[in-house]
Amino acid sequence: MSSILITGGAGFIGSHTCLQLLEEGHYLYIIDSFVNSSPQIVERIERLFSKGHEKFEEQFNLIGGDIRDKILIENIFKSSIENKHAIEAVIHFAGLKSVEESTLNPSLYWDVNVGGSINLVKIMEKYNCRTIVFSSSATVYSTDNKCPLSEDSQIKPSNTYGQTKVTVENLLMSLYNIKGEDWKIINLRYFNPIGAHPSGLIGENPRGKINNLFPYLNQVASGQKKELRIFGNDWPTKDGTCIRDYVHIMDLAEAHCLALKYLLQKGKSDFLSLNICTGKGTSILELMRHFESVNSCKIPYVFVDRRPGDIAISFASNDLTSSTLKWSPKRNISDMCIDGWRWQQLNPNGFEK
Ligand SMILES: NC(=O)c1ccc[n+]([C@@H]2O[C@H](COP(=O)([O-])OP(=O)(O)OC[C@H]3O[C@@H](n4cnc5c(N)ncnc54)[C@H](O)[C@@H]3O)[C@@H](O)[C@H]2O)c1
Repeated sequence: MSSILITGGAGFIGSHTCLQLLEEGHYLYIIDSFVNSSPQIVERIERLFSKGHEKFEEQFNLIGGDIRDKILIENIFKSSIENKHAIEAVIHFAGLKSVEESTLNPSLYWDVNVGGSINLVKIMEKYNCRTIVFSSSATVYSTDNKCPLSEDSQIKPSNTYGQTKVTVENLLMSLYNIKGEDWKIINLRYFNPIGAHPSGLIGENPRGKINNLFPYLNQVASGQKKELRIFGNDWPTKDGTCIRDYVHIMDLAEAHCLALKYLLQKGKSDFLSLNICTGKGTSILELMRHFESVNSCKIPYVFVDRRPGDIAISFASNDLTSSTLKWSPKRNISDMCIDGWRWQQLNPNGFEK
């Protein structure tokens, strides 16, 4: 059992990962500002946790606050030492993730994603905690690369969001290069996480404008939105719509547990970037047809103009991740559509009543 700080642990990927880490017996400190999540996640995770109320109270500590708040982060490290559960590693999810918003409000994105990360690693250094798993993204890759992408494909993000992710990867690389400090670092480059916990109790709960395809699909299927707007039907793909590499959120959560275990067991410093993907490309129309078929529903849709910044095809190889972490995705597109739709049906308004 280890003590782990999880930033952004109330969010979509963070909440699913926290549940798996709790089941593995880890002691968690979670910091989240709830800018894109809800404190109601606590009650849901507790309901899913198999070891009972007392263990949950002991292992799960959620602190509301911002990763840019130096005093707060430092106090979390201090109190972990006082409680004899000194933080050994960090999983760093907290950040803003809309490509479009990052273009409209770049200074906010640099401040939260990069400024917040600098604040975090400075305090980690001070408290001798030098193990970190960082949430990076497929957006770090150049749009000129051929698919499947591999970890050594060209890095050249085409938007501010992707630039902030590369900058944090570079920051972590410079820490790894400090002689004698022994940083252990994994950047997980996620492709397109969708789906939900099979119970339907936790899932993606975006606040404000929906930017990702799957929550949109869910809302059209449930009648909350009139139709799915598909951005372009003239892409150079088999059916003219964009191709992406969708990965089940439960598989993604498992990858975090394995990445953490890998680093904690590692006797010396390390720096790795790993793709978290299935290696399979699925077009938007294919995903939609799958969703309709496994959930017996109809999705009205319209084609609209391409979105600036989109690319035709993005999928990647997970060979390096599989051989390093002994991870491979266990769930398929049908599982993603069934589990994601169950979450929507049970929680039409997310965590709000
Ligand atoms: N979901 C995706 O498609 C995807 C793909 C690639 C990378 N990522 C990255 O993975 C991470 C997690 O993504 P997610 O999908 O779970 O998003 P999410 O928005 O559901 O989770 C992020 C969490 O961080 C919190 N947060 C944001 N700013 C904060 C701040 N300043 N201080 C404290 N907490 C803050 C939010 O409230 C939220 O709970 C993000 O860094 C994101 O950029 C996500």
